[in-house]
Amino acid sequence: MDFWQVVESRHSVRDFSNEPLARESIERVLHAASLAPSVRNSQPWRFHVATGVSRVRVGAVIAQTTAHIAEYMSVLGPELYELTLKWFSELGGAPAVIGVSIVPAEDELESINTLLSTGTAIENLLLAATAEGLAACNITFLKWVTADLESALQVSADRRIIAVIAVGHPGELPGTFPPKNVDIADWLD
Ligand SMILES: Cc1cc2nc3c(=O)[nH]c(=O)nc-3n(C[C@H](O)[C@H](O)[C@H](O)COP(=O)(O)O)c2cc1C
Repeated sequence: MDFWQVVESRHSVRDFSNEPLARESIERVLHAASLAPSVRNSQPWRFHVATGVSRVRVGAVIAQTTAHIAEYMSVLGPELYELTLKWFSELGGAPAVIGVSIVPAEDELESINTLLSTGTAIENLLLAATAEGLAACNITFLKWVTADLESALQVSADRRIIAVIAVGHPGELPGTFPPKNVDIADWLD
């Protein structure tokens, strides 16, 4: 796949097949993340890869969020609510869940820099997953369970989990993908 094919075919995929995920594949997508730009080349990210027993533990923690999703019923509507419950209960059967952690910054600028830097690394990972023929979805709707997640992912005490990424081989793809607004720039002479 060339660059544009990768960028244009990356989607958040929430259903995974039973095909085992090779450790080398995970290593390659992490390598892409490691090459991302970051403020002062600080590389503030750490990726916590849960497979096997730890994946099951992490999944059980994430499933606890479903107790809170009802609060969002009016925003989601009934259909998306059901899909969201199922997604957070099972993570589409993803064989790997990768936690993403940072050391929280003291001041606002550093916090922006840390989060933006880590976002670039996550996007590198997501694009690399697409290039590898893998499926992935970034998840941040985790505020109720972050402490439990940090424990399940054995994150050191100074770091906070800001996202998890479900990764695997694609299962059923949705018929349509979220529309994109391509008119995103204001041009100034
Ligand atoms: C910062 C961020 C947080 C996200 N959080 C979630 C999430 O908690 N749950 C989820 O299912 N998808 C989550 N997503 C995926 C978005 O829903 C998805 O990117 C968006 O709907 C556009 O679809 P696409 O990725 O297929 O282009 C998140 C994406 C980003 C970039």
